[in-house]
Amino acid sequence: MNAELEKKIREALANPQNVGEMADADSIGTVGNAGCGEMLRLWVKFKDDKGKRVIDKATFQSFGCETAIAVASMATELIKGKTAEEALALKSEDLSGGLGPLPPMKIHCAELVEGALRSALEPTTTACPPAATEVAPVATGTNLIDSLSQEQKPGVKITFLPPTAK
Ligand code: FES
Repeated sequence: MNAELEKKIREALANPQNVGEMADADSIGTVGNAGCGEMLRLWVKFKDDKGKRVIDKATFQSFGCETAIAVASMATELIKGKTAEEALALKSEDLSGGLGPLPPMKIHCAELVEGALRSALEPTTTACPPAATEVAPVATGTNLIDSLSQEQKPGVKITFLPPTAK
């Protein structure tokens, strides 16, 4: 990793934005990367803006990886004011744009954030109820690992991303 990227990640980690659970979230997405063991959960709250349903705020919790935390911090700021469709149009390179180009071994860190965003915002096609993007707040533990070990309520989606080459 180059020195400039390391510096930007350090700066993002020194003051990460939007960390933590959101009790009144409208939508929650969780993803895991089986390759590195990283997990990330994203909470999203919408508001009405002149008749448009836009993202009011988003928060996240993550295990470990500094790059994923830095990207999630930037992404949760970037998606504010966007509709779900606009946010879903963002790719991992858009979400991590503030950091500059990521080295190949760190691209999957940004993809983890993109995956959490998709998990939170895309209508589910499996066991979850049709209104999964507008679920009621979920009772969760005090942190991500606690909440993952609890029985998940309908509407909470956990997606495991395929391992990526490092
Ligand atoms: Fe796997 Fe960053 S090292 S998400």
